[in-house]
Amino acid sequence: MRFRFAAFALLISLAMNDEELFAADDLPPPNYDEDKVGSYLLPDPLTCLDGAPVVDAATWTSKRRPELLELYRREMFGRAPAKPTEMTFEQANIDEQALGGLATRKEVLIRVAPDAPVIRLLLYVPNKRPAGKPAPVFLGMNFDGNHTVDADPGITLVEAWQYDRATKTESQVKPDELKRGASASRWPLKLILERGYAVATFPRSDVEADYEGGWRHGLRGYYLKKSGRTEFAPDDWGAIGAWAWSMSRAIDYLETDASCDAKRVVIHGHSRLGKTSLWCGAEDTRAAIVISNDSGEGGAALARRKFGETTIVLNTRFPHWFCGNFKKYSEKESTLPFDSHELIALSAPRPVYVASATEDQWADPKGEFLATQHALPVYALFGKKQAAVERQPSPETPIGDVVGYHLRTGKHDITEYDWRRYLDFADRHFGR
Ligand code: GCU
Repeated sequence: MRFRFAAFALLISLAMNDEELFAADDLPPPNYDEDKVGSYLLPDPLTCLDGAPVVDAATWTSKRRPELLELYRREMFGRAPAKPTEMTFEQANIDEQALGGLATRKEVLIRVAPDAPVIRLLLYVPNKRPAGKPAPVFLGMNFDGNHTVDADPGITLVEAWQYDRATKTESQVKPDELKRGASASRWPLKLILERGYAVATFPRSDVEADYEGGWRHGLRGYYLKKSGRTEFAPDDWGAIGAWAWSMSRAIDYLETDASCDAKRVVIHGHSRLGKTSLWCGAEDTRAAIVISNDSGEGGAALARRKFGETTIVLNTRFPHWFCGNFKKYSEKESTLPFDSHELIALSAPRPVYVASATEDQWADPKGEFLATQHALPVYALFGKKQAAVERQPSPETPIGDVVGYHLRTGKHDITEYDWRRYLDFADRHFGR
């Protein structure tokens, strides 16, 4: 009976088109008409809450940046715990001749406390390194398990929790049901390693399974229990906050690994994980370069532009991503005390690269582009003068020196084209 109901619900949801799905969730349909975006006024990154202008880098760093960070913590991503004091790193499964001798593979078990859920970091370090120097690192989370990033049979299979919207049930997916190398097109390891970069990644579900009740199995649940509470406060971290915080824990490990250059860590993420990398870059100044791939609403796209996904959609479909306070901004984007140009600017003066895709209108490519340009005045404070570009560039025409941007032809994805741009950007900024 239960199975028949589940199959029926699944069939119904598969048969529904986008408009019907929106109606089912009682959500306003998305706008894709540029003429209907309307006018909006962006908050000025260079005006403090008390009205004082930010005229130099010192005022940005000591006053405006901390107040913006505080606003972002309180109203959107939530507050994360301090850096743990009893963290341990356990190296396992080392293969010095992985990927046909191209790299050394390690798996590092990161424990933020002895009884906390374990973050399983997969690391490939190129064996060919000039004068044995430590390698700069591309660090980013993966969606479905370390073993999905490459077919390398040596990667430990990773299980994950998942939720079925149709049947409203959660279950643990056994590792053997998830395919080795299933996401390999998003992780061109050979290309990255041959360019001299290490690759570090861990699965999102090690930190938090990605659905409303997923926190019970992850780090947010662990810390909540430790605090003796059963409910999150309105400014406690959401899943994206927890993912971003865990990226910082991976940087903590990289700082201890002599084969990696922890001063040259490029953090990156696709889509919801791009929202995560932007927030990690804002919070953790050790992220030397920050990359957002198709991060859209809640990431690089300007929230005040009514195009594609909106705040009410984020809050309805992914209520666990942001903190409780963020709920009050559903359909009230103009009352947000910040917008995404400021999320990008929080990484200044460190380089940021934002990428969009032509067929990813849901993520509002134009809104992502505009945010990069509106972040530039903050970079100028640091002497990083990049002239703003008025019109969104054509596909396959990367722009920008310290704040890079490109629009790629194609779907919501991360492809070799994107990766080549990120590698070129990192080479340029690391002087390689
Ligand atoms: C959905 C969601 C987006 C998110 C994307 C993803 O489309 O609406 O906000 O970026 O999933 O993570 O793939």
